[in-house]
Amino acid sequence: MAIKQAKVITVTSAKGGTGKTTIALSLAGILSNKKLKTIIVDMDLHSGVVSASLNLKPTKDIYTLVNDYMNHGLKELEEYIIKYNDYIDVLAAPKDPRSVGKISTYYIDLILKKLKYRYDIILIDTNHIIDDINLITFDNSDNIIYVITNDLMDLKNMKTMISIYKDMNLQNYSIILNEALSRNHLNLYEINTYLDKNIDYVLPSGSYVKNMSKILMGGKIITLENSKDKTTLVLTKLLDEILK
Ligand SMILES: Nc1ncnc2c1ncn2[C@@H]1O[C@H](COP(=O)(O)OP(=O)(O)OP(=O)(O)O)[C@@H](O)[C@H]1O
Ligand SMILES: [Mg+2]
Repeated sequence: MAIKQAKVITVTSAKGGTGKTTIALSLAGILSNKKLKTIIVDMDLHSGVVSASLNLKPTKDIYTLVNDYMNHGLKELEEYIIKYNDYIDVLAAPKDPRSVGKISTYYIDLILKKLKYRYDIILIDTNHIIDDINLITFDNSDNIIYVITNDLMDLKNMKTMISIYKDMNLQNYSIILNEALSRNHLNLYEINTYLDKNIDYVLPSGSYVKNMSKILMGGKIITLENSKDKTTLVLTKLLDEILK
């Protein structure tokens, strides 16, 4: 009998500040409502804010996990994981960004592979930089979600990524246009033409949340607060497509 393994969904972008972390947390909320056991892995190692956004105060993180694993072997993976609710767990980014350089991709790979046996979904938040950590994360991912805005530099970088995926003959990614954080006037038709590829999903400008700071200060997840909002509708469609 085949052993069930988690589906690995990674949220990334071609430029910073496009809404990745907010979308990763929103996806976790929807997965939690679907009663799927999910771990959010904060692979934005230098400046991850997943645990802070959820008002969690982890005493251990990815760095302490890798360091202990290297020195003593892996004992209890659970000790490094913090619980948000019955369905959402978090593996936090390093508390001290100075420790990031000591984290080897070899151990990141091992840890992701071990987590696959414990969860339905591994949801990874990343930064937008293409480094060894993100490459090993992408290699472990079933689906990669690119969050873009209509900023021209963002689109230029996304176009580069599209040609890299084409070169590698990989299609396991989708693109979300986040209009909530988009500022100029390029429309969807112009963006699709520029990218020479159709955007898969659009989070409309109406998905902008005015009281976001209050939500973050309370450690809340928008899609758990309101399951009928625009973000939930679009991201549910995306997840249904990925999980079908
Ligand atoms: N739908 C939204 N409504 C209101 N504010 C939002 C929304 N989505 C994101 N934001 C805010 O925009 C900022 C950037 O969002 P976020 O941190 O999710 O982007 P990111 O891509 O993860 O950034 P980074 O590249 O720095 O990791 C944050 O202050 C966040 O709270
Ligand atoms: Mg982020």
